[in-house]
Amino acid sequence: MIDPNTIFLETDRLILRTFCLEDAGLLCELDRDPEVMRHISKGRPTSMEVIQERLSNWLGYYEKSGDLGFWAVHLRSTKEFVGWFHLKPSSFFSGEIELGYRLQRQVWGQGYATEGGKALIERSFAQTAIDRIIATTLAYNYASRRVMEKCGLRFERSFFYSETILPGWSEAERRAVLYGVNRSAQLLSLHIPN
Ligand SMILES: CC(C)(COP(=O)(O)OP(=O)(O)OC[C@H]1O[C@@H](n2cnc3c(N)ncnc32)[C@H](O)[C@@H]1OP(=O)(O)O)[C@@H](O)C(=O)NCCC(=O)NCCS
Repeated sequence: MIDPNTIFLETDRLILRTFCLEDAGLLCELDRDPEVMRHISKGRPTSMEVIQERLSNWLGYYEKSGDLGFWAVHLRSTKEFVGWFHLKPSSFFSGEIELGYRLQRQVWGQGYATEGGKALIERSFAQTAIDRIIATTLAYNYASRRVMEKCGLRFERSFFYSETILPGWSEAERRAVLYGVNRSAQLLSLHIPN
């Protein structure tokens, strides 16, 4: 059962809701799948201690802004928790707003990341003053890059995540890509027939 007061956004197939401290177990479970974590921590799970610390930071967003934050995502059909999205100030590029997503492996390949990502971008450009949204990922995370493209973001440049972010990773392993979309481009794309 999803408390209607926690619902942030609904799409055809997804419900995005605010997190609460009790969600730590769901997040731990998500990060326990080495395939989910392959391009994030080389497959290593996240400890409950780190999850709890992270979650309390995530909850802080809801007080600061009604438009930015991390949201749990559920399938509308079954109400099952399947992962999360975020739209938040970038940790890598000052002044930028960054889209992110992490979904359980059993729901991959059905367009859910694209559906949620597009809805967040469309909401931001239609209802907030956000003018530009970026997304970053490791260069060889091709599924994530494809989601960015399908959400209307375009490749802008390569860069390297710092060693602080990915300790023990070689420079080649830390190669990343930056994609972005501006409000004007997104609005224009709505008026161009395919
Ligand atoms: C990235 C992720 C969120 C994508 O979720 P999803 O719901 O499967 O995404 P979608 O179904 O909307 O789109 C995936 C696209 O990537 C494509 N894809 C998947 N794996 C691919 C690969 N190895 N190479 C190229 N394309 C790939 C799919 O074919 C699909 O594109 P298409 O519709 O043109 O066929 C999911 O794989 C995930 O949670 N991964 C682990 C966490 C992660 O890496 N998060 C991103 C960190 S930046």
